[in-house]
Amino acid sequence: MTKTASAPITNLHVARDDDFSAAVLEGLGASPKRLYPRLLYDERGSRLFERICEQPEYYVTRVEMEVLRLEGRKIIDALDGEVDLIELGSGNSMKTRIILDHLSDRQGHFEYRPIDISEEILRKTSQEIQADYPNISVHGFVADFLAGLEFLKLKTSRQRLILFLGSNLGNFEYGEALEFLKQIRRGAVTGDWILLGIDMDKDPAVIEGAYNDAAGFTREFMLNLLDRINRELGGDFDRSGFQFRAEYNQAGQRMEIGVLSRRKQKVFLEEMDRTIRFSRGEWIEMEVSCKYTPGRLQWLLREAGLQTVRQVSDSRGWFTLNLCRVP
Ligand code: TRP
Repeated sequence: MTKTASAPITNLHVARDDDFSAAVLEGLGASPKRLYPRLLYDERGSRLFERICEQPEYYVTRVEMEVLRLEGRKIIDALDGEVDLIELGSGNSMKTRIILDHLSDRQGHFEYRPIDISEEILRKTSQEIQADYPNISVHGFVADFLAGLEFLKLKTSRQRLILFLGSNLGNFEYGEALEFLKQIRRGAVTGDWILLGIDMDKDPAVIEGAYNDAAGFTREFMLNLLDRINRELGGDFDRSGFQFRAEYNQAGQRMEIGVLSRRKQKVFLEEMDRTIRFSRGEWIEMEVSCKYTPGRLQWLLREAGLQTVRQVSDSRGWFTLNLCRVP
């Protein structure tokens, strides 16, 4: 049994149910149709995502972990002065533990503020981290990334190191990613640090394989959103009418992940008394995962007004960790 200790949790999510129904209606009303990635992470979705991270094809987590193990120290050594830690999209904080270890060696006490959209996982993780690291003050926040940015305005007593790992930045289109980084920069103060974990462009077969795991967890993760709509909005999505697809768009250097309607069909959402029509072969995008070349990444960070202080990667250059500073 894992030890637990109590850690405060604050919910920054307002009107969560309204947000879900509004986002579903907006996305399914758009053309082309899309369902926003944050909607994937209900409790079941968050658990499925943890399983995805363990799949042999999903190299992203493994390689990021390897970079953290081999080069994490160099990142922490590049910090001048003490920091408090904020993490956007912390999930089970598994990779973060490597950073917590290095920071604990270096400065003894600090605050760790994980922010995640899934309350259950956040609560469990915060308690476990608090139990394992008595030298840290853990305070979890339930929020999506946007509410998470608001939260950056709450100051801590030290400089902040803001973690954005797992190539989560890749889940924004390139333009949105730039906007998001600019927003982080505006929410942060001079001297704050940002650590970005970025999946780099590589052999398309390797990338495509990562999102087409043989065990089918990624497929299930997508179909779970249809189930969630049925559950929470009284929908009548028939799973068998939709086909999972995850393809690498080489020209756009990005994975495109979602479902195709296998036939012409209608779905009724009882809670809102709305009917959504799908044509045969119609695509519903649920997630993109953009991959970066070194040049594009450099451009992005510069354009966002961030100073790159240190960049480390694995020997093949599959994944980079980028330590940036807010000027
Ligand atoms: N940040 C992760 C990535 O881009 C998110 C992710 C992994 C994901 N697998 C997924 C999102 C499958 C949707 C579907 O790799």
